Amino acid sequence: MSDTAAKTYPPSDAMAANAHVDATKYDAMYAASISDPDGFWREQGARIDWIKPFTQVKDVDFTLGNVSINWYADGQLNVAANCIDRHLETRGDQTAIIWEPDSPEDEALHITYKELHAQTCKMANILRDLGVSKGDRVIIYLPMIPEAAYAMLACARIGAIHSIVFAGFSPDALAARVNGSEAKVVITADEAPRGGRNTPLKTNADQALLHCKDTVKCLVVKRTGGQTTWVDGRDHDYNALAADAADTCTPEVMDAEDPLFILYTSGSTGQPKGVVHTTGGYLVYAAMTHEVTFDYHDGDIYWCTADVGWVTGHSYIVYGPLANGATTLMFEGVPTYPDASRFWQVCEKHKVNQFYTAPTALRALMGQGNSFVEKCDLSSLKLLGTVGEPINPEAWNWYNEIIGGGRCPIVDTWWQTETGGHLMTPLPGAHAMKPGSAMKPFFGIKPVILEPTTAEELQGNPVEGVLCIADSWPGQMRSVWGDHERFEKTYFADYPGYYFTGDGAKRDADGDYWITGRVDDVINVSGHRMGTAEVESALVAHPKVAEAATVGYPHDIKGQGIYCYVTLMGGQEPTEELRKELRTWVRTEIGPIASPDLIQWAPGLPKTRSGKIMRRILRKIAEDDFGALGDTSTLADPSVVDDLIENRMNRS
Ligand code: WT7
Repeated sequence: MSDTAAKTYPPSDAMAANAHVDATKYDAMYAASISDPDGFWREQGARIDWIKPFTQVKDVDFTLGNVSINWYADGQLNVAANCIDRHLETRGDQTAIIWEPDSPEDEALHITYKELHAQTCKMANILRDLGVSKGDRVIIYLPMIPEAAYAMLACARIGAIHSIVFAGFSPDALAARVNGSEAKVVITADEAPRGGRNTPLKTNADQALLHCKDTVKCLVVKRTGGQTTWVDGRDHDYNALAADAADTCTPEVMDAEDPLFILYTSGSTGQPKGVVHTTGGYLVYAAMTHEVTFDYHDGDIYWCTADVGWVTGHSYIVYGPLANGATTLMFEGVPTYPDASRFWQVCEKHKVNQFYTAPTALRALMGQGNSFVEKCDLSSLKLLGTVGEPINPEAWNWYNEIIGGGRCPIVDTWWQTETGGHLMTPLPGAHAMKPGSAMKPFFGIKPVILEPTTAEELQGNPVEGVLCIADSWPGQMRSVWGDHERFEKTYFADYPGYYFTGDGAKRDADGDYWITGRVDDVINVSGHRMGTAEVESALVAHPKVAEAATVGYPHDIKGQGIYCYVTLMGGQEPTEELRKELRTWVRTEIGPIASPDLIQWAPGLPKTRSGKIMRRILRKIAEDDFGALGDTSTLADPSVVDDLIENRMNRS
């Protein structure tokens, strides 16, 4: 089937007429953004308030060895003031955050912009009292509770750089991030309720902090009231301090290029790297994409189901929506608790207008049947969005028909932790959507498709290759924390002159883009990025494991599952207990999201004579596609492959 022959879904007349951007406007604005980026982004810079207005706009060099990315560099601003203070006069009593707790039995909170201001200032003052000042790092390890947003904004207010660690990460992963960023404070909570179960966050933090400098302080928010141990001098009770803290706090004046946050993400090699985003350009880009992609209008209720531990939560729960004075919903729970109608009940209860989630959640819910949806009133929905991985046509159709009632456009937003905001997506009032296609570049984005080996730019349509971006945009990451060389090597070395995304893509006959998945050793598990190298290094750290190789394989719900080939130390028996032990081991080393789905015992791994593991072959075996193994003649011992194929049924 050719992509262009597939059914397309043009915007309704009403959507096209009322949207911020219709087809004509998209074409004109896109052309302007490419022909005159400085002029275009100068104008967009006015979306936010500047303490000192910028005169410079774009100052960028993609040359390897000299990569430097600056936007609005001489401007000064404060992100928290933009997300809160500037709204106080006009919408102080409007709800900024609707908080929906894990259990529907508990009460939702409606936090106004005034309240958000007071709470953020209290948190900011507490952090200052703990010795945090401009440029210092703060780790946030919290459940999806309002305090997570207060903590982010409090850091932004005092110029501290936050680094959020997803509450599903293990103590080891937390410690690595505390140490990697040399954080002064860890903000955590007693426990994180999710799906009716409590994760002992403070206990995890206690374990992590054993491996950190003893000057690191711990600020503990009360969520459940669960028992925690207390280290005097190190641990501080947030709720007690907040009761007495002042509720005003002067925002720090920040340069546009001062870091706003670090977010650790997996790559194809080594340990996760700290992606650095800065202040001015990031906020302009998050605000603009939030408004335009979701066609957000004043008074709308907007819900992004991500966790603030991922970039989606940064840009599209907190910074983008709040910069726009929106009402943003923050959900503590999971889609299937107490049952599979939870998402749709929350939509009904809070009259959600824009709903943004991941394909993996849709696939899981779709499998539960439509009765969970049909009992809910979803008439408030105007727009749906997806992110994290390509969406398969079945899930797209279900989303469109069953959730959207056939009347809501679906924005399939392709972007990355590194990009700060959407780089490609259909715009709801402008483009005829094709299920599974990320469609069009956002303003200012110049996608190019390169031939993978020659790096030649493929012109015309249709073409397929690796996806690079030819020029910068304001939301682009600026560096890897503490390792600018790694930044250049990862993103600018393979295809000189371009930002390399790590994804493959095709451009169809109409010029629309389809993401085909990662071309590096990164796998996408339930929309979350996992480095195969990370899982492997966790496995080989186990005393009974000699070698391990990890690849992705197609998984019905998760998109990709984690498939591990494990070679045991001599004399070790491949037992079911050991399999279980290895799973637990990886969960403890990294976190539950890295848990192997399948482990296959491998007496040997397919290696070239120079010792490089040929993952291409392992991928094929994992996919049960061994008719097409390709050239195996360079293998040191080709018989290894036959053994792996023969014994693949011992995986589980
Ligand atoms: C990788 C980035 C950006 C927020 C979520 C994930 C894949 C993301 C899509 C999409 C196809 C997608 C890519 C990308 N991806 N969105 N709409 N269609 N693939 O952030 O953890 O930084 O992962 O997710 O492979 O490179 P992330």
